[in-house]
Formats: sequence, C-alpha cells, structure tokens
Amino acid sequence: MPLPGVAILGSTGSIGTTALRVLARHRDRFAVRAVTAHANATLLRTQVAQWAPPFVALVEGDADMPASWHRGAAALVEAATQPDVDIVLNAIVGAAGLDATLAALGAGKRVALANKESLVVGGALVADAAMRGGGTVVPVDSEHSAILQCLSGRDASAVRRVVITASGGPFREWPTDRVRGATVQDALKHPTWLMGRKITVDSASLANKALEVIEAHFLFGLGYDQIDVVVHPQSIVHSMVEFRDGSVLAQLGVPSMELPILYALSHPDRLEDAGIPAFDPVAASGLTFETVRHDAFPCLRLGIAAGRAGGAAPAVFNGANEQAVALFLDGRMPFGAIAEAIETALDRHAGLPGGARDALWHADAAARRTVKETFGC
Ligand SMILES: NC(=O)c1ccc[n+]([C@@H]2O[C@H](COP(=O)([O-])OP(=O)(O)OC[C@H]3O[C@@H](n4cnc5c(N)ncnc54)[C@H](OP(=O)(O)O)[C@@H]3O)[C@@H](O)[C@H]2O)c1
Repeated sequence: MPLPGVAILGSTGSIGTTALRVLARHRDRFAVRAVTAHANATLLRTQVAQWAPPFVALVEGDADMPASWHRGAAALVEAATQPDVDIVLNAIVGAAGLDATLAALGAGKRVALANKESLVVGGALVADAAMRGGGTVVPVDSEHSAILQCLSGRDASAVRRVVITASGGPFREWPTDRVRGATVQDALKHPTWLMGRKITVDSASLANKALEVIEAHFLFGLGYDQIDVVVHPQSIVHSMVEFRDGSVLAQLGVPSMELPILYALSHPDRLEDAGIPAFDPVAASGLTFETVRHDAFPCLRLGIAAGRAGGAAPAVFNGANEQAVALFLDGRMPFGAIAEAIETALDRHAGLPGGARDALWHADAAARRTVKETFGC
C-alpha cells in the first residue's frame, strides 16, 4: 500500500515549515508529494532537496527556477488535485488559498485547512465542493481543532455553544488610544504564538478572531449566537464546547501548532509523537479568562456583523482587512485605521451579492480598491 500522499501549499511559511517538521517524524506514515511557495525560491529549493516531492510550484517563478517546477496561481490547483495526493494541507495566507481548497474538495481530498480565509470568503462554496466531490475539511487552527476534538463522537444537536479563546494579542492591556497608534514592530510582538506577519497583525487587531468565528460557523454549522469569544492570555485552553446540559469540554495543550497539524493529518486517529511538547498542568497553572475589550478592538465586532450579514459581506471584510494589513505593514496606514478601513468597505459593499465565485471575487476586489482609495494609496 502506498503511503497517504500530502501536498503542502505554502510550504515555506510558518505553518508549512512546522508541518514539514512534524512530517519528518512520520516518514513511515505519510509521503510528501507536492510543495508550493509564492516567491521564496531559496527555501523551496532546500525543501525539494530534503523531500524530493514529484510536484513543485513557485507561483512567482521565473526563468531561473528549475524547468520541472510549475508556476502561476493555477499551479496551486494542480498541486491540490494530483492523483497521488490524498491530503492537502492548505497553509497559504489569504483569499489566494480559496481556489485550491475548492479544487481539492472537488477532487475528493482531505483538506487540512490552515487557510481560514477560504471558509470566510467562500464558506458556502467550500461546503458545496465538499458535498459534490466527496472531500472533507479538517481544521488546523488550534481553536477549531480543539472544538473538533471536543465534538468528536458526540451529537452536534447537543451543543449549546462554543467558546473560542483568544490570547488578546500584544495590546491586550494597552489603553485604547495607545492601541490606535501601535507600530508595526509593536504589532509583530505576539505574546504566545510565533506566526506569519499577516496573522500576527490580525491577532493584534482581533480581526483573526472574527475570521475564526466565521470559520466556526461554517465548519460546525453553528449559529452566530452559539459562538462566544473569551480572552485567555496563556493560550493553554484552545477552546471549549458547552453542551445543552451545561457540561463544558475543553482541549488543552502548550501553544504549539505541531499538535493541531498532526491531528489534522491523522484525524480521527491519534499518532504517537514524542516531539509534541508535553503538557504539564502545574507549569501551566494560573489560567485566566477575560471579556473582550470591543472598544479597543473593533475588528472583532465588524467581522461578526459581516458574518451575520452573510452574502458577500464576509468576503468584503476579509478583502478589506488583507488590504489594510498590507498597507499597515508597509508603513502606509496607522494601526487604528485598519478597523476604519474595514468599516468603510463594509458600508459600501456589504450588500453585494455573494453566492458564485466570481461575485465573491468582485466583492473582494471592490473592498481592496475602496481601502486603497480611501487611504490615498
Ligand atoms: N502561523 C500560525 O501559527 C497559524 C495558526 C493558525 C492558522 N494559520 C493560518 O494559516 C495560514 C498561513 O499562515 P502562516 O502564518 O503560515 O503564513 P506565512 O508564514 O506568511 O506563510 C504563507 C505561505 O503562503 C505562501 N503564499 C503567500 N501568498 C501566496 C499567494 N498569493 N499564493 C500562493 N502562496 C502564497 C507563502 O510563500 P512565500 O514564503 O514564498 O511567500 C508561504 O509559503 C493563514 O491563513 C493563517 O491564518 C496560521
């Protein structure tokens, strides 16, 4: 029997490199059959030398890359649908990951989904592709992995609500006015997780939690009234599920993406892995929980409202956020303007129709354009 084949889309990023570290301990269980990057040819070359995957793609490839490599965005879909690939770990950042998710599900693959933006932009399309192609989505986000693990084997109708935990980010205790003027350096100092730049900024603004609430809505079929967010600065309790009798189950662990990545590959089984950091309840003691300061972090409220509005609104929220974060990271927009930019884009475009892929891309483009125009770029 050949080993299950894994395609890692975004292999050069934070999740992609962590996944390869996990897979290196399970070479007897999985075979890496495809890797893709956006522009980091140097790291991709190193990975290809270590893993010799039959399919390699560099989206922004040029004449200097090896002739056997594929290039262009269409190569992501090709990687995701290779016949010898069973599991697609989608670790691309942003809406750019959507088409590969849809293609993989349409081809009947398991998608280990780190790219939460796929679900935020095209949640209904993702469900439809899975239904038609027979593919399945297993979340990589630690919060959703926790919810899945708490739900496994239990009747979904017995769920009263889920509580998603948030670290609160680097500005958790900052006065609201100071948060608005935070620098790029401030925003990139996450207290508990080491991640790519975009999600680190999203964690500082709590836009990431809004994306996760929408992700939970689509993944678990929950109403927005059934999804709460609580700040938990230690990032040990990864999320909780409350059942209708009041019983609450939680999943705990040290803040490391290795476990949720491994679980997304092995679900519903569990693999022995001595490399996963061990949990010591005594060392982890002093767990605290706080309410979200919505005045300081308006992105969360805006994102949940976009999720509730439905249609193209989540795609507008996501597109505006991606554009605003890019401008912030370029030093062209203050931190506090990220929420303003999203609000402006939602005011103008939230009513656009959702549904088809083209309509969602139209909404995404309109949101990005509005953010650029409003902020003079
Ligand atoms: N990092 C975490 O701990 C974490 C936790 C939970 C969920 N997630 C989610 O996982 C996803 C990846 O996050 P990350 O932190 O790993 O990001 P990252 O470090 O920025 O890595 C992103 C990866 O995607 C590639 N990429 C970027 N833009 C692309 C495009 N337009 N087309 C194709 N590939 C592209 C990058 O290639 P280059 O290296 O060539 O640029 C890189 O391999 C995000 O959706 C994030 O929200 C991350």
